[in-house]
Amino acid sequence: MPKQRVLFTASEVFPFAKSGGLADVAYSLPRALSSIYDVHVMLPLYQWIDREQFGIKALGEPFTVVMGGVKYLVEIFGCTYRGLEYRFVYTSLLCDRAFLYGTAESAYDDNALRFALFNRAIVSYVRQERYDIIHLNDWQSALIALWIYEDKTIETKTLYTIHNLAYQGIFDASVLQKIGIDDRYFTMDGLEFYGEVNFMKAGIAYADCITTVSPTYAKEILTPAFGCGLEGFLRYHHHKLVGIVNGIDTEHFSPLTDKALIAPYQDTTGKLTNKEAYLKEIGLEGKEKALFIFIARFTWQKGMDILIDALPKLASSECNIAILGEGEMKYHEPLKRLVAGYKNMHLTFGYDESLSHRMYAAADFLFMPSLFEPCGLNQMIAMQYGTIPLVHHTGGLADTVKDVNFFDETSEDGYGIVFSEPSRDAFIRAFVRALALYQDKTTYNEVIQHNMQCDFSWKESANAYHKLYQTMI
Ligand code: GLC
Repeated sequence: MPKQRVLFTASEVFPFAKSGGLADVAYSLPRALSSIYDVHVMLPLYQWIDREQFGIKALGEPFTVVMGGVKYLVEIFGCTYRGLEYRFVYTSLLCDRAFLYGTAESAYDDNALRFALFNRAIVSYVRQERYDIIHLNDWQSALIALWIYEDKTIETKTLYTIHNLAYQGIFDASVLQKIGIDDRYFTMDGLEFYGEVNFMKAGIAYADCITTVSPTYAKEILTPAFGCGLEGFLRYHHHKLVGIVNGIDTEHFSPLTDKALIAPYQDTTGKLTNKEAYLKEIGLEGKEKALFIFIARFTWQKGMDILIDALPKLASSECNIAILGEGEMKYHEPLKRLVAGYKNMHLTFGYDESLSHRMYAAADFLFMPSLFEPCGLNQMIAMQYGTIPLVHHTGGLADTVKDVNFFDETSEDGYGIVFSEPSRDAFIRAFVRALALYQDKTTYNEVIQHNMQCDFSWKESANAYHKLYQTMI
């Protein structure tokens, strides 16, 4: 029997386009499902994607999509990358930009139109190409659920995954007409949200199933503290909501085979070589001191305010601290100023995949003081690389990291330092515990060895998606 067909749609997919964890999941989950399904991954063909390098070719003739009475020329492209099939939507309005969604200062003001067009193009495409399931991700592909629900000729089932409820795609009500959505959907049980249009509501209301990226987050988003105004709406639809924790691509993130590393390793001795090399690279001294890293988008979600408040205190302890990331401008200056004042801190602005691998390999601890975290991937990557995460007990962090006080070497869970309040003081107390653990070399080494052997792969979670797909088809 031929495999059932799945179309996985996302606005960013590693290695073509990436701003956050969605891109990693859009790379690795389809791969994990591809032994069972015939999976195609679909994204915009942004102008920076190198068509030649990836062998991206036009599939068929350009066609016209009409949206809000305006005609747009659309082309579908395709390539095979590392054994998986990719499909791209090219249309000038969507793709000919320097960035995905806008600059660090502001989002593009026509994002509603851009991503609605991406969704319209995909709906036209699936009228020709039959898929059993379309797996939609975040607000940028949420309207597909509505348009497929409306179009009785398409039999495809839709699954909508929420990676982060804080980004809902909220726009002025005037966009409805431009994207060709009838006013009758502008209601409380449709797309209306405090007088504006909310794209994510389309995914929640019209998809056949909804998932989010961890079981704890699936519960949290039903409450006012985490629901970002959609808690009531989600509670109404919660019979079709499931939390499935993300995995990581354990082939890509393997300290033993990682090509980005000076010295691949499988134990703490091997880790030390990487630590020495990295400290040298960034000009910090003291390989015997604990090295803490922070790798994230600089946004409030990631606990930037807590981190910045706590840094002077942390940096005055016996340790090294290295930070990698970029994001909201308001964090750039204070960070730069702080780091300049200490000999044991280092800051790299930007995003550099290979550098991040070297940092995971070098570090002893990873900071993740996120205020909320739908899943979080960095804590799993860290544990795989023998780096102990310090995490706030929330969302996927709560589901993937158990506190070292309860360390049980026979368990399949990964361990780290877990704190329950997202505050500067709780974070500093966790840091003090980390330093103490670092001194207790026997326990410290046991925890690292244990974490490195844990299975953070997609195996179980891909199976959970598979079971869910089967209930839908
Ligand atoms: C978003 C969330 C993050 C999650 C990722 C992938 O970036 O903020 O917690 O791990 O999506 O699902």
